[in-house]
Amino acid sequence: MKILFVCLGNICRSPLAEGILKSKLKKRGIQSKVESAGFESYHINEPPDPRALKIAEKHGIDITENKCRLFVADDFDNFDVIYVMDTSNYRDVQYFSRNDDDMDKVKYLLSVISGKNKSVPDPYYGGESGFENIFNLLEEACDKIAETLDN
Ligand code: 4NP
Repeated sequence: MKILFVCLGNICRSPLAEGILKSKLKKRGIQSKVESAGFESYHINEPPDPRALKIAEKHGIDITENKCRLFVADDFDNFDVIYVMDTSNYRDVQYFSRNDDDMDKVKYLLSVISGKNKSVPDPYYGGESGFENIFNLLEEACDKIAETLDN
């Protein structure tokens, strides 16, 4: 299963989700392609936000090698599932989609927990507590994904 996480900037939520899921899959011995991407070009090729690096490190997850990249239409061909963080990401992915099959791959990440299309809040303009909050949400969702892939 090839999984892509997307958010707006690809420096906070989606690289954290990528790092968390990769770590969980590694622990379970599951091989899977996992990447992340975003829609805004301010931070291309940069590492994640320092607050994301800090919360990841606190939890023993290394995302220092991640480099911000933009979502491209080819991602629909290269991934089986595309998890978005919020409604704006959903609309951005939809803009790139070419057909219904493309959109069938797109899911709200938090739907794996609740079945509902809830958003992972954008932490960029908030403080560090926002990063604790999103880390916990992402971890819960990635636990579910890892469990599903293990079965
Ligand atoms: P992310 O957070 O989408 O979780 O990576 C953001 C990062 C950067 C910006 C907005 C959100 N920005 O406006 O630069």
